[in-house]
Amino acid sequence: RAAIEPSAAAPSSPSQSHRPTRLMPVADPHPSLIELHEPSGGQWPGEPLGHDERASALRSLADEVAGCQLCQLCRTRTQTVFGEGDPMARVCFVGEGPGADEDRTGRPFVGRAGELLTKMIEACTFTREEVYILNTVKCRPPNNRNPEVAEIESCRVYLDRQLEVIRPDYIVCLGLFASQTVLRSKLSVGRMRGRFHTYRGSKVLVTYHPAHLLRDPAVKKEAWSDLQMLLREMGITPPSTRKR
Ligand code: URA
Repeated sequence: RAAIEPSAAAPSSPSQSHRPTRLMPVADPHPSLIELHEPSGGQWPGEPLGHDERASALRSLADEVAGCQLCQLCRTRTQTVFGEGDPMARVCFVGEGPGADEDRTGRPFVGRAGELLTKMIEACTFTREEVYILNTVKCRPPNNRNPEVAEIESCRVYLDRQLEVIRPDYIVCLGLFASQTVLRSKLSVGRMRGRFHTYRGSKVLVTYHPAHLLRDPAVKKEAWSDLQMLLREMGITPPSTRKR
């Protein structure tokens, strides 16, 4: 897959290259550029569903996604990759899209990047079963190319509906595509990370995609600092040592 290089879209001048290392939420120096779509204080509509109702709503949606022909990716996929985890999860991890392993198995994040994501989740003291893992697009882009804007926009309705059923307290966006899609932003990962954003009733954290961390392990410490910020916000004392 073509690399998502969070730094590729990063602003070049030092005054713009805002990469906070602080662990607490900070004010963005350019708030007008962020979250124009989502005024803070957004809420999830209606009453939250119980476990069984959520599980059933997600099963129906997964059936719908399995037959989806909204974009050209339906012609090359082996199967759709809907997502998996606890319908009551407090935290959702949103990736980019299925790769070859996911297309073959129908499960998200089961390849090398998935192994690292599992370690990241476990370093947060969670298990994969306790969180919910999903992708921005549900079908593999051929030859591991990046998903196109039209594909992301067609699939967005499913992402939104999944999140609306689960209504997690926290959404962790992994990499550029998830972050820009959920937050409807054009900013780089480097500009979006380091603070909490809002998507409807959820707090949103942006961090690097595990595939990027595999290519550039030096960035792992920044990803870990993002996850520590999440844990603090959740009232969980972050483990002091980084587990890999
Ligand atoms: N596997 C996924 O399911 N999503 C990604 O973004 C990368 C690998």
